[in-house]
Amino acid sequence: MPGFELFGSAERKEVNDVLENGVLMRYGFDGMRNGHWKAKELETELQSAFKSKHVQLVSSGTAAVSVALAVAGIGAGDEVIMPSFTFVASFEAIMMMGAIPVLVDIDDTLTLDPKAVEKAISPKTKAIMIVHMCGSMGDMEALQNICDAHNLVLIEDACQAIGGTYKGKPLGSIGDLGCFSFDFVKTITCGEGGAVITDNKQYYINADHYSDHGHDHIGNDRGAEDHPFMGYNFRISELHAAVGLAQVRRLPDFLSIQQKNYTILREALSEIPEITFRTVPEGGEENYGFLNFFLPELEIARKASKNLKEAGVDGCFHYYDNNWHYIRKWDHLKTLKTLYPISEEVKSGLKYLQTKTFEQSDHFIGRNISCLIKLSWTEEKVKLRATAMVKAVTSALKSVK
Ligand SMILES: Cc1ncc(COP(=O)(O)O)c(C=O)c1O
Repeated sequence: MPGFELFGSAERKEVNDVLENGVLMRYGFDGMRNGHWKAKELETELQSAFKSKHVQLVSSGTAAVSVALAVAGIGAGDEVIMPSFTFVASFEAIMMMGAIPVLVDIDDTLTLDPKAVEKAISPKTKAIMIVHMCGSMGDMEALQNICDAHNLVLIEDACQAIGGTYKGKPLGSIGDLGCFSFDFVKTITCGEGGAVITDNKQYYINADHYSDHGHDHIGNDRGAEDHPFMGYNFRISELHAAVGLAQVRRLPDFLSIQQKNYTILREALSEIPEITFRTVPEGGEENYGFLNFFLPELEIARKASKNLKEAGVDGCFHYYDNNWHYIRKWDHLKTLKTLYPISEEVKSGLKYLQTKTFEQSDHFIGRNISCLIKLSWTEEKVKLRATAMVKAVTSALKSVK
């Protein structure tokens, strides 16, 4: 992560194809295209990469999550259970549907704790949204069992975990719907883009129409197409899809570079007895896009984060103090700062956030450091980095003792 580090001739060739041919839109203009259908081709590649029957490309990961909720029929007043540690896009998408985000604690997998999920289920719950944060997953079997028992939709936000697997299945392909982001900092990028994947044909048809104003895409005259239901514009452009097409073909290489770099850093940090690593459930394999570890206390993690920055070790996040990825700093959600009025139902559904505490999540996020694994590092650079990281963390442990 991120794929843009290794942009090269393959990306340029695909983009130039689109520019030379001149059709920047993914639908229509059949006569002008000379056979160029980059978005369609990327969807086919993603079907095989993610072992999924259907793929709908969209304009972003946030769009992917919104479309996934919409196609599963989740809307006004429905509750969607999501983790306290994620990116703000999770609650944005739920709120956009007029639904209510129900935030619950994470465990040492850094995503949904199945026990916390079970406790949060109410008659209004319609879906559980797991977010595979920083390249790895939660206990998918337990979550699937909960969904089966309560007839809930399981949505996987795999935006940060492209290429991770659980019991041999790609993350994103396990639940009813999987969501991906191909924004500029993801393992494979389109610049901006996203995808919804599913084995459910009706969900796919809904996603295809909903993401293009409700167009049914039958025939080759856009103006004559029918609109079975209302939709929006979450389309990806051919230019963005072209970049992604080159990138997805390189995904196996990117994943193996990530794993190599991750392993060097992990082995070095394993020498520090006070460090523990995030739990990866049995049968799971991370995508190695991040190395996540825990220190014994919040203040040690804070000091380690400071030391790492001062030593020039970039991309090591202490999410407890970060504005975008953890409930602690989401005052705009807690106090409902929106540009426009929202329904009384959502307002009252979110009142719990003014008093709810997340001690269990604090316990894990407060002590966690999450290090981005880059693709462009040389082996020498990774080793130097490993040494600098061990020094920064050891010094934090000593200073706070
Ligand atoms: C977990 C998660 N979900 C959703 C998104 C939204 O993706 P995008 O930036 O493509 O809208 C992100 C982006 O960082 C993310 O990390």
